[in-house]
Amino acid sequence: MPGFEHHVFVCLNNRPAGAPRPSCTADGTSEVHTALQQAAKAANLGSRVRINKSGCLDQCEHGPTVVVYPEAVWYGKVTPADAAEIVSEHLVNGRPVERLRIADECVNAKSCPHRQK
Ligand code: FES
Repeated sequence: MPGFEHHVFVCLNNRPAGAPRPSCTADGTSEVHTALQQAAKAANLGSRVRINKSGCLDQCEHGPTVVVYPEAVWYGKVTPADAAEIVSEHLVNGRPVERLRIADECVNAKSCPHRQK
């Protein structure tokens, strides 16, 4: 069986109220994760794509955060309504969804316009 063509990580991290950084979920569950799994299944990508739950991906200010490998495309402010587009455009047709991408200068940066610390 061939390996996965895409690996998708969905942050499910949640922090207590008053934490210095925001969280991608309020309770450790993610409708985004569920919606991505359902959309991938509907597109018959089950054996070619892996949709994984993840801890903090350190893009908290842009969350809910999703990253797709092997391209290392980072998506921010993702909602369940975005899942079908990510699957059809990116995972099936190879075209990242530009409107959801986190700016390159924000990814893995110690500071960016969105980060307070
Ligand atoms: S809490 Fe989701 S990226 Fe940090």
